Amino acid sequence: MTKGGAKFISFEGGEGAGKTTQIKFLGEILRHAGHEVVITREPGGTPDAEAVRDLVLGGEPGRWSAKEEMLLMYTARSQLVRTIIRPALERGAWVLSDRFADSTLVYQGYAGGVDPDEVRKLHDLVLGPFNPDITFIMDIDPNSGMQRVHARAEALNQFEKRKSNFYEMTRNAYLDIAKSEPNRCAVINAAQDATKVSMDIVQVIKDRLGIAL
Ligand SMILES: Nc1ncnc2c1ncn2[C@@H]1O[C@H](COP(=O)(O)OP(=O)(O)OP(=O)(O)O)[C@@H](O)[C@H]1O
Ligand SMILES: [Mg+2]
Repeated sequence: MTKGGAKFISFEGGEGAGKTTQIKFLGEILRHAGHEVVITREPGGTPDAEAVRDLVLGGEPGRWSAKEEMLLMYTARSQLVRTIIRPALERGAWVLSDRFADSTLVYQGYAGGVDPDEVRKLHDLVLGPFNPDITFIMDIDPNSGMQRVHARAEALNQFEKRKSNFYEMTRNAYLDIAKSEPNRCAVINAAQDATKVSMDIVQVIKDRLGIAL
């Protein structure tokens, strides 16, 4: 399906872990190495999916049930994969996504109360076996992540307003996913300085994909 070794890479982890920062770094590194790179984010990445993002992230917690959120996320994801991600991979571009399906599994599933197996079933129904080639789990103590988010001084969205035991739950869920799918997932110590984090990410890509960067 992909052309010329193009890969689909997702970045996951809690708020303030450095996903957006590292995706920009990796995008630059890959472009410098001569690759076409498409950077996208979830929920979002197309005008319609961005509208879904506003629906899900806007407003107060409790606006949607976790199951309703899951359905909205997969509606947006289906369109993003169909119109942006698959075509990019087919023409040989690397795709870097700021969050992907693991976010639904973690936030609506493990931490949100939807049976994780039901989330996986919906994934199969909507996308079949389509998954990232590598998923970076950006791991950081939730308090440190939130400190970074507060220092960033943007308005907090409804997920960022939740309590700290919720963050522990999401962190542990991500680590469980990484343990159960070690070939796809790589846990990155996201508490290190940004340059070191970037070096660790590049090393994983070199080791797993055998490419020069
Ligand atoms: N390794 C790092 N050390 C210190 N600060 C960092 C590091 N990486 C990113 N930051 C800063 O922390 C803040 C959060 O980083 P970033 O926006 O990349 O995280 P994120 O995972 O995308 O968060 P969110 O889930 O809220 O989108 C930013 O202000 C960023 O500049
Ligand atoms: Mg971000």
